Amino acid sequence: MKRTKIVDILSCNALVGQQVCVKGWVRTRRGNKQVQFIALNDGSTIKNVQIVADTEKIDADTLKDITTGACICAIGKLVESQGQGQSVEIQCDSIEIYGLCPNDYPMQKKGQTFEYMRKHAHMRLRTNTFGAVFRIRHHMAMAIHTYFHEHGFFYFHTPLITASDCEGAGNMFQVTTKNLYDLKKDDQGKIKYDDDFFGQQTSLTVSGQLEGELGATALGAIYTFGPTFRAENSNTPRHLAEFWMVEPEVAFLDQEGLMDLEEDFIKYCVRWALDHCKDDLEFLNKMIDNTLIERLEGVLKETFVRLPYTKGIEILQDAIKKGVKFEFPCNWGDDLASEHERYLVEEHFKKPVIMTDYPSKIKAFYMKQNQATPQGGSIGYQNTEAPEPTMQGTDVLFPQIGEIIGGSVREESYDKLLAEIEQRNIPMKDMWWYLDTRKYGTCPHAGFGLGFERLILFVTGMANIRDVIPFPRTPNNAEF
Ligand code: 4AD
Ligand code: MG
Repeated sequence: MKRTKIVDILSCNALVGQQVCVKGWVRTRRGNKQVQFIALNDGSTIKNVQIVADTEKIDADTLKDITTGACICAIGKLVESQGQGQSVEIQCDSIEIYGLCPNDYPMQKKGQTFEYMRKHAHMRLRTNTFGAVFRIRHHMAMAIHTYFHEHGFFYFHTPLITASDCEGAGNMFQVTTKNLYDLKKDDQGKIKYDDDFFGQQTSLTVSGQLEGELGATALGAIYTFGPTFRAENSNTPRHLAEFWMVEPEVAFLDQEGLMDLEEDFIKYCVRWALDHCKDDLEFLNKMIDNTLIERLEGVLKETFVRLPYTKGIEILQDAIKKGVKFEFPCNWGDDLASEHERYLVEEHFKKPVIMTDYPSKIKAFYMKQNQATPQGGSIGYQNTEAPEPTMQGTDVLFPQIGEIIGGSVREESYDKLLAEIEQRNIPMKDMWWYLDTRKYGTCPHAGFGLGFERLILFVTGMANIRDVIPFPRTPNNAEF
């Protein structure tokens, strides 16, 4: 008999009164001598279907093997339920056991810590919480593709293996086929790559942006959506060594337009979650974070604050004067720590903030430089004056998360970009093709990168980034 998914069993009235076949993993079994109740889940929904097994029909040996975690196939009539807590149930005619589940099943006990779950990441997928998180993760991926498709962006595939360091931060994993203990070196002791697979030093990409810009300056508007890799040794609840990034890049987009796109895109994703993931969100709201749904709805109502960095520093300095204590300094020129970002978002404005016009010295080489003043400063967004050069970087800061998007207008002037590359000692052999976009028919353009897992953190209310990707990669952890 053909199997029906539990999500359809629970939502399709026409099935009531029919014989159905369900297959899934047992959550619980309880009951008495006459009748046993089995809660079955097949991953298609957070909800279980109740199977009612009459002990005269289903033999005791079979029933005894139906333990938590076992995999079964049950056939019976779908009827309206007599009991509380479910609208329908299956009056079981027969059960076949596909897979027994002995009592050392690691997910048997309820209420395990997330740390315990991470050690059993191969099995945690079968729990309610992780089922909910990964269904939502799927829906967010669909939201992203739908948004960009509907707005005329082309899905553009950028390479994962690269010879350039987009962010210039040097946090790259190397790619080689060579025996690392027996590397060829030149007279100065420097490694020679000429006989390595690519004939040059290569790494896993930290961002698809540079190639994304080539796409945007040809197709008009593109987005990438793929894995990115960063060898930053930051053991925080917000960092992964392998994470997924969404990177739209658009020709003829200015700073205001970029911020509009960032805000519209995030709101679309949040709305999509509320529209498509109701059952899973209600579960997480109940079990993980009881302000989750309220927070998601709140973001949709808010207009994000657009705040030049220089004004942000003034607010933070003011707060310090009024007695607020921060662990790290926040003078003009400092990279803001997550405590500063969260103060602005959660305490001061109480809504998401798009911060713009960062000091050049803390941002990447490719950002558009603001107009210089004769005194060595600059003038940027909303005519804000800054004491030193600034760039049109526009990051989105979110409650609970901190930076969820990093973006910028790109420097389109060949001369300015070249000067910046030289000043930062970026090897020109890596950059000639990128500079060609500025040499041949350059155009104003802008784009951003959204950390997919940070979006999932926000949308699920989970606290640790390791719990929103199926198999996290972090320092000292590459199992599964
Ligand atoms: O701010 P980032 O470094 O920006 C870029 O890579 C640009 N090239 C993007 C672009 O303009 N096309 O990274 C973008 C976002 C961050 O805002 C953050 O959400 C996420 O990627 N991110 C990480 N997420 C998880 N683990 C990490 N180690 C991350 N590093 C960055
Ligand atoms: Mg950033």
